[in-house]
Amino acid sequence: MYQIYPLSFADSNGDGMGDLAGIRARLPYLLELGVDAVWISPFYPSPLADFGYDVSDYCDVDPRFGTLADFDALVAEMHRVGLRVILDFIPNHSSDQHPWFQEARRSRDNPRRNWYVWQDPKPDGGPPSNWLSEFGGSAWKLDEATGQYYLHSFLEEQPDLNWRNPDVRRAMCDVLRFWVARGVDGFRVDAIHHLFKDTQLRDNPKNPDYRPGMLPRRQLIRRYTTDLPEVHDAAREMRAALGQDGERLLIGEAYLPFDRLMHYYGAQLDGFHLPFNFHLIETRWDATLLRPLIASYEAHLPAGAWPNWVLGNHDRSRIASRVGPAQARIAAVLLCTLRGTPTLYYGDELGMRDVPIAPEQVHDPFEKNIPGLGLGRDPERTPMQWSAEKYAGFSSGEPWLPVAADYQQVNVERQRKDPDSMLSLYRSLLALRRAEPALSLGSYTELDVPPPLLAYVRQHEQRRLAVLLNLGSTAQAGAVPAELRGVQVAVSTHPGRAGAPLGADLLADEGVVLAL
Ligand code: GLC
Repeated sequence: MYQIYPLSFADSNGDGMGDLAGIRARLPYLLELGVDAVWISPFYPSPLADFGYDVSDYCDVDPRFGTLADFDALVAEMHRVGLRVILDFIPNHSSDQHPWFQEARRSRDNPRRNWYVWQDPKPDGGPPSNWLSEFGGSAWKLDEATGQYYLHSFLEEQPDLNWRNPDVRRAMCDVLRFWVARGVDGFRVDAIHHLFKDTQLRDNPKNPDYRPGMLPRRQLIRRYTTDLPEVHDAAREMRAALGQDGERLLIGEAYLPFDRLMHYYGAQLDGFHLPFNFHLIETRWDATLLRPLIASYEAHLPAGAWPNWVLGNHDRSRIASRVGPAQARIAAVLLCTLRGTPTLYYGDELGMRDVPIAPEQVHDPFEKNIPGLGLGRDPERTPMQWSAEKYAGFSSGEPWLPVAADYQQVNVERQRKDPDSMLSLYRSLLALRRAEPALSLGSYTELDVPPPLLAYVRQHEQRRLAVLLNLGSTAQAGAVPAELRGVQVAVSTHPGRAGAPLGADLLADEGVVLAL
């Protein structure tokens, strides 16, 4: 699966913001890369307070991105060429500009009032509980006109919908059905663990591990505001709204430890098909941590549950910036050879890096609300680097975020001609994955190698592939296990190694895939 952040992927009309027609024009590239499905981040009407994650109409396309007709044309073309379409679904909150909220805030007895979470002030006039917004400050905002507070787990422009109200649940599942009827193949459901909050409004406990400089919301443990059991009923309802033919996919976004995350598959595997596994993003890049991480994930998976791995997204620093360009190639091999569905963030297949953003160029409210902690997400949302042309071939006009300084070296046009580029590595890996069911379906068995190496065998029926990764920046002489020596290399991160037999040594930062 490939994630497109539509504001930054391809701009067809020169306004500096990407759009649906831009995506459609670039489908040949996605086929060349070799992905199966594309998740498109929000393109719905939005004031862009949180860059599309604040939706003011769930069933339309924002004019900046095009029209519903553009959307239909995109879906038709994607299906024609064999790509699946996954949309973003944002159930926890709408925009404060959504007509539902506009009505709700009109008066205490408005029929829509109970579509959101309203509470009286405490006797001292303060907020009803100590709950904190993810984006800084209290999660409660006083609405002066009606004298009550409303809840917002994110920005105050993103009031939380009341999922305890059956009318809200019905309306939101109707949204899913609206897009299913237009042909989509699934949804990535935003911030799913936030959906329900404690009805008694109990204060969240203080976090004893909090230190100044940490994310402000970490002052509290989110006991009463996230991961409540009711969320699983809602997940089942969303799953049912996808229809009964089993042709559509439900993905859940929840940053949780494995023991909590696994509940999101549903007690009868009737919840999310794929609760996103973000642990490669959250774990330090070190073989002594990654090996037990993979083992733990495998051990926690319920019987019959399909795994998945994610290396990057629009909320986190890019992989090439987190681990450096050489290890980003190792990360590519890891992502494409672990069990289950890999999700790749646009531009990571080129080794794009976070782009420094000057203070006057900051767009992300996370950075604006909590400056100085490096929380801004603009650096990983910059324009896709298509070519060495002006604005990297992303747009004919000035892009909404700056283009990376290195775009003349790091771009699609250049990398597609270079057999040793990151793009060519990804293409080889995805082609191998398609050709070798062992890489997607096969079992996973770790090999006993010392750090900084990480090694495993993937097996399906009689077919076995071995993956050997050097997570260190020095060569590892004599480190290749005896049974792998002399085996022909199918893919390597390093030039000139594929097609030749592997010796006893691994090069610095080298990763190889071997067909046994
Ligand atoms: C999710 C999105 C993030 C957004 C937040 C609020 O975490 O990935 O971009 O800001 O939800 O909708």
